[in-house]
Amino acid sequence: MTASLSSLLWAFWYILPAYVANGSPVLLGGGPPIDGGRNWRDGRRILGDGKTWRGFFGGLACGTLTGVVQYFLTPGFYGDLRTAALLAFLLALGALLGDLIGSFLKRRANLPRGAPAIGLDQLGFLIAALALAYPVKTLSSGQIIFLLVVSPFIHWGANYFAYRMGWKSVPW
Ligand code: CTP
Ligand code: MG
Repeated sequence: MTASLSSLLWAFWYILPAYVANGSPVLLGGGPPIDGGRNWRDGRRILGDGKTWRGFFGGLACGTLTGVVQYFLTPGFYGDLRTAALLAFLLALGALLGDLIGSFLKRRANLPRGAPAIGLDQLGFLIAALALAYPVKTLSSGQIIFLLVVSPFIHWGANYFAYRMGWKSVPW
């Protein structure tokens, strides 16, 4: 029981850079959109105004930095600083790219910026983060299933909190 509880806590510790990369653009984002305001061939925006360069690179930096701090707190979990930083970079990059893919699919489905897409919004970033980080360090299948189950609730909770703080205009 204690062993499995600790393995679930390690799963959170592992995925933290992806959560940070996914959440920090809410505060850091703004400015020019990644798609440059351009439309796809269906006449709708490629990604939309909710996906900005500042959010992307801010999220990448915060996510990677999170991994560096984590290394100094629990060096044994990563082996060396280079591995920790690379793992966090890949988790952050995956989270941000997964989020962009989600927005691309939402625009193709004619959903406006900010519209909820249940499943895609909560899991797209997570699945892409797990996939990109896989070659460096991965989790057991039980830990991955645990993250897939709990992350939507954390995502909803974090977004509701950001909404209540006035950082976001919608609670999802
Ligand atoms: N954000 C950003 N750049 C990113 C990702 C997010 O600037 N690459 C910021 C935007 O201000 C965005 C907010 O973080 O509105 C919340 O992100 P998210 O919910 O993913 O974007 P949505 O506005 O809901 O847009 P979409 O419908 O495309 O998901
Ligand atoms: Mg959203």
